[in-house]
Amino acid sequence: MASSASHAPAFDFAAMTAPVAAVDQFLRDFLDQRPLTADLTDAIAYSLFAGGKRLRPVLVCRCCEAISGTCEPAMPAAAAIELIHCFSLVHDDLPAMDDDDLRRGRPTLHRHTNEAMAILAGDAMSVLAFELVVTRIASPQLATAVLRELAGAASEMIAGQVYDTLGGFDAAAPPIERLRIIHRHKTAALIRCACRMGAICGQASDQQLAAASAYGDAIGLMFQVVDDLLDVTQSTEQLGKTAGKDALQDKLTYPGLLGLEATRQSIVELTREAHHALDHLARLPGSSAEHVLLLQQLCDYMAARSN
Ligand code: IPE
Ligand code: IPE
Ligand code: MG
Ligand code: MG
Ligand code: MG
Repeated sequence: MASSASHAPAFDFAAMTAPVAAVDQFLRDFLDQRPLTADLTDAIAYSLFAGGKRLRPVLVCRCCEAISGTCEPAMPAAAAIELIHCFSLVHDDLPAMDDDDLRRGRPTLHRHTNEAMAILAGDAMSVLAFELVVTRIASPQLATAVLRELAGAASEMIAGQVYDTLGGFDAAAPPIERLRIIHRHKTAALIRCACRMGAICGQASDQQLAAASAYGDAIGLMFQVVDDLLDVTQSTEQLGKTAGKDALQDKLTYPGLLGLEATRQSIVELTREAHHALDHLARLPGSSAEHVLLLQQLCDYMAARSN
């Protein structure tokens, strides 16, 4: 593939996110078959089918395709990571955490229902993700490998939320190091996991898996840096969540610590890092250069997004 975005065709969001419809159907079928109470099912569905960008499932699918040319084997992992992501958002919005009233342009789940239901719906989504993997991946070896990735990343995400909400850093760690620890844990871990699970479902070689991980590391951190930036540059209406919230809550963020210019520069550098990992992936035996190009476009979209 080309070594930079300069020759890439214009980004087509609909084409890029084409696997979303199949992931949504998969999630609906799975949720319909669970023996949950009607109000719990409704609460989960409120969070799960709320118009999220579905970037993590798309990354799972596209990374699987980059290795194997198809995303079919990755569908359960793609659905499972969206459950973990939605669980993280529902709990992130709770009064004891970020205390947010708006998510994806509508009331947060605890505002729509109540705190107890939001806590329980989050709990349920976190375990449903693992049930989904165990029951929907036919190969025990593949299911075990996916479980290991997802469980490890979910724990990292939760640790990141602890750092973000409660601190608990090594007293000697300087602010920039604390910031990276928060972002690598609370956000990058799941995004990296999406890339790794996709590669694993596509039967990646060790080298292909390492390249997918490096890509995931770079875009994972970049994604949260962009989230921090958008919090200060976009309106609540554009974001579908309350703008300006990070400063109000005294969060450690890239713009807050480094300023807007250095934040934008970090996004450029992390994008370059991600491209570099993809260049490597495309050159490895068995990789589909055509599909690796889609991952490059997805990375560029993530860097330039406005919500
Ligand atoms: C928001 O993630 C939370 C972060 C990790 C920054 P997304 O921006 O992917 O949220 P949705 O799913 O599209 O709403
Ligand atoms: C959220 O980070 C990370 C997780 C949900 C794990 P933020 O708190 O910045 O996400 P938003 O801005 O509320 O979506
Ligand atoms: Mg938060
Ligand atoms: Mg938040
Ligand atoms: Mg944020």
